[in-house]
Amino acid sequence: MSRVVLATAFGGPEVLSVADQPVGDPGPGEVLVDVRAAGVNPIDWKTYSGAMGADPGRLPLRLGSEAAGVVAAVGEGAEGPAGPLAVGNEVIGFRVPGAYAERVVAPATAFVPKPPQLSWEEAGGLMLTGVTAVHALTAASVRTGDVVLVHGAAGGVGSMLVQLALARGARVIGTAGPDGADVVRRFGAEPVAYGDGLADRVRALAPDGVDAAVDTVGTDEAVDVSLELVADRARIATIAAFGRALSEGIALLGNGPGADPGTGVRAAARLELTRAVADGQLTVVVAGSFPLQDVASAHRQGMQGHSHGKLVLVP
Ligand SMILES: NC(=O)c1ccc[n+]([C@@H]2O[C@H](COP(=O)([O-])OP(=O)(O)OC[C@H]3O[C@@H](n4cnc5c(N)ncnc54)[C@H](OP(=O)(O)O)[C@@H]3O)[C@@H](O)[C@H]2O)c1
Repeated sequence: MSRVVLATAFGGPEVLSVADQPVGDPGPGEVLVDVRAAGVNPIDWKTYSGAMGADPGRLPLRLGSEAAGVVAAVGEGAEGPAGPLAVGNEVIGFRVPGAYAERVVAPATAFVPKPPQLSWEEAGGLMLTGVTAVHALTAASVRTGDVVLVHGAAGGVGSMLVQLALARGARVIGTAGPDGADVVRRFGAEPVAYGDGLADRVRALAPDGVDAAVDTVGTDEAVDVSLELVADRARIATIAAFGRALSEGIALLGNGPGADPGTGVRAAARLELTRAVADGQLTVVVAGSFPLQDVASAHRQGMQGHSHGKLVLVP
């Protein structure tokens, strides 16, 4: 058996509960993993909010898609992207459906080795934001010498974007609220306050122009300022402006209608991310760690949208 988080209705965090569910043995190509930490992401509360559909036939919903843990059993031929998996291996999994759990069975292809530099909490929160950031930088063709504008630079995806863009040799200007500026600066980027006058403030920092922009916020301001400052629309990518992106001709990334899921680039990014951690180019900031039964509190904090780091569940 495993304790798992369930959404038993569509709604707010009050619909979440923890229950015992049976866990099967891993089948061929699968592994059983004892979860040490599972990452919390906005998609998790969007899934049960009803905004993405409220078919009661889908209830109860298991939640979570990324986790770090220890391999407890392996099925025949269980092999991940870095090679065969064995009992005792410390791994990070993405995508792992139902990762908010004590134990999960998932395809071995979801798991890469956990770099020893990362704590369990850091490892549990690395992948979803990390692969999204790699996808966005690839879509916007970010390279050495670029000036890149990152909207929401103190956030989960934003902090990955900042670090990975700097590692590619770009100069990064990152938007943040009053409390996020220090976070952006700490990662080596130049913070700029979002809100009225954003375009002028960015121009003051980068009078020769901005080469590429990545939006993690989805506001009209983020889209409009990107369009105003970046000459080539092919070098603007958004992961959040699902309403505007298609009509503006900018890259829309993710799983929504009309978006590029980037399945291949995101899968390949997992080993790129663990290498960047091992090389000291990438860190994960943990903003909060919660036991499974406090999942609703974790979601309430995340829903405010200003956590400045990853929230994780520790079973
Ligand atoms: N399409 C995809 O593949 C994909 C993948 C991952 C995430 N997402 C989506 O991307 C979004 C961000 O995810 P996340 O995990 O990075 O969230 P997060 O950690 O909560 O970060 C949100 C960031 O947005 C900033 N922000 C809030 N209100 C703002 C405003 N009015 N103007 C400018 N910035 C504002 C916050 O900055 P301050 O705290 O500095 O105010 C914060 O840094 C979510 O909507 C998520 O669902 C999409």
